[in-house]
Amino acid sequence: MRLKNNKETATHQRSLFGRRQGRSLSSSRQKALDEVLPRINTPENFLTLQSNKSPADFFDRPFKEYWLEIGFGHGEHLQELMLGNPDKAYIGAEPFVNGMTSFLKEINDLNTDNIRVLMDDGMLLARSFKPDSIDGIYILNPDPWHKTRHHKRRLVRKENLDIFARILKKGGDLILTTDVEDLADWMITETVNHGAFEWLAQSCTDWQTPPENWIPTRYEVKGAKGAKKMVYLLFKRQ
Ligand SMILES: C[S@@+](CC[C@H](N)C(=O)[O-])C[C@H]1O[C@@H](n2cnc3c(N)ncnc32)[C@H](O)[C@@H]1O
Repeated sequence: MRLKNNKETATHQRSLFGRRQGRSLSSSRQKALDEVLPRINTPENFLTLQSNKSPADFFDRPFKEYWLEIGFGHGEHLQELMLGNPDKAYIGAEPFVNGMTSFLKEINDLNTDNIRVLMDDGMLLARSFKPDSIDGIYILNPDPWHKTRHHKRRLVRKENLDIFARILKKGGDLILTTDVEDLADWMITETVNHGAFEWLAQSCTDWQTPPENWIPTRYEVKGAKGAKKMVYLLFKRQ
């Protein structure tokens, strides 16, 4: 079958697992989708398999740096980044409608021009960017997919690391967190073995302590209670 257009081709690569929407949306969430999302949404023609899009084309003015957050949940981390760094631009992906609408409601009244979002698989965006165009990527508390047969659903894995290595600038940051021990081991092994990334930890204190000026995510505050310990894995594109 001939595919109709480039966007269709790109979205055919979608790989999402788990639910995208819970119960029906409240009127305030629906309003956020109808009124706020169109202001900051990824343009229709942006998703491509050509890997030739500049993040700068997303925004109305140039920025010092361009960052991606994949799986931003309800967006507290993304919101603080975007408000604290008006000279940097942020692009966030979150397919879960409740998460996206929480974020949209929060930023509705803010007059910021440094944010864009995609309510879909973040890898569709990552694949679209041209090489050496992104300054940093956050993947914070991704779903662990515990069963061995589900490991290929994990966001941090060889095929995706190839894409991150391609779009990150030399010296760009890949920042990963989790409180799931098996996933932490997996993330370290996959990323170190990949070869394109340098792990910045010198000792275990480095990965057990949040970096300076760290913004905790909702999951980190609510999900990491009890005995679970967060790990903060900081890598640089070599
Ligand atoms: C455990 S939650 C963590 C949310 C947030 N980062 C935090 O720390 O509070 C994982 C999030 O990743 C999102 N997610 C899963 N696969 C994704 C993908 N391929 N692209 C973008 N987001 C994804 C899920 O919808 C979910 O909101």
